[in-house]
Amino acid sequence: MKGLILSGGKGTRLRPLTYTSAKQLVPVANKPVLFYGIEAIAAAGIRHIGIVVGDTHAEIRAAVGDGSRWGIKVEYIEQAAPLGLAHAVKISQSFLGDEPFVMYLGDNLLNKGITPLVREFEREKPAAQILLARVPDPQMFGVAELKDGRVVRLVEKPKEPIGDLALVGVYMFGPEVFESVNRIAPSVRNELEITDAIQDLIDRGLEVRPHIVDGWWKDTGKLEDMLEANRLILDTFDRRIEGNVDVESRIEGKVVIEAGAVVERSVIRGPAIIGSGARIIHAYVGPFTAIMNDVEIKDTEIEHSIVLEGSCLRDLSNRVIDSLIGKNVRICREPVKPSAYRFMLGDNSEVGIRW
Ligand code: DAU
Repeated sequence: MKGLILSGGKGTRLRPLTYTSAKQLVPVANKPVLFYGIEAIAAAGIRHIGIVVGDTHAEIRAAVGDGSRWGIKVEYIEQAAPLGLAHAVKISQSFLGDEPFVMYLGDNLLNKGITPLVREFEREKPAAQILLARVPDPQMFGVAELKDGRVVRLVEKPKEPIGDLALVGVYMFGPEVFESVNRIAPSVRNELEITDAIQDLIDRGLEVRPHIVDGWWKDTGKLEDMLEANRLILDTFDRRIEGNVDVESRIEGKVVIEAGAVVERSVIRGPAIIGSGARIIHAYVGPFTAIMNDVEIKDTEIEHSIVLEGSCLRDLSNRVIDSLIGKNVRICREPVKPSAYRFMLGDNSEVGIRW
């Protein structure tokens, strides 16, 4: 089998971060979301992965390389514009040949991996196997309607409710899918929808096996989902302290402090991770916080947040919560009059001041 990871697209719901970075590289518990997908596919014994890339191809290539780090071979497939998930399959046909494949959306996270599902697919050889999960907001996803355990209908982001079983962003296909992706027409949002291609397999009388996932699943396309995925992954960590922590600091619970990090006169309450080169000085880092490499948190309290490389939060009088802070951001208190807010924010930034 081969793997196909989709890592193109626009990432509009994570702006402004995605103006400068690929959404699939935003870290969850200090590791790019995309790496969790690569690792899940490699763990299932698949050694050859194609990654569909768009505008952010250079950054994805720089982060992933040739795959040797995971003992796999990675090839890149360039998609000129994000014309849909089925379009991504279409342009990958020469890479995939007639081998069955796992398609994994590069912004999805599944805690239990995919190994047993890949084995089941290899054993049963249906035309497709789809994963489903019950969600409270099915209008945000592709939704499947089942009858007597069989998939009868699939609708992308349904306006009229047809149930709460969302399509998880992991699919397994046999080569029959190529005929379907070539038969369907673009949807109203002008994308070739994978839901339409799977519906076409059903309409051709081919077997589409549904599988309801039992662990948790997250599509990390939005801030809240990103923070939730961060929470779920941090919670699985074991305590590991390799950085320098002074005697005046207190480290409570499941905390990872990477080698090269410095913690002075601070309290860190897990689950939390502090990246290498970070400096936490006279600060409080509360539960569900991921601090990336070379970040400085000084005289500031922060919890339930993600801070990317090289940022600096200093002398803030209110606690920072529920935040996703990009790379090299500076948030400082300035001891000069008049008291005021002074901002320099990119397009689509969001600032919430709670009082
Ligand atoms: O997360 C599960 C959902 O993913 C499914 O329930 C939906 O049926 C499916 O259409 C998809 O919906 P999204 O609206 O979340 O898809 P998004 O545009 O975010 O794209 C998913 C991933 O695929 C993302 O990593 C970007 C990449 N992509 C997307 C498109 C449209 C590409 O590489 N090329 C594309 O043309």
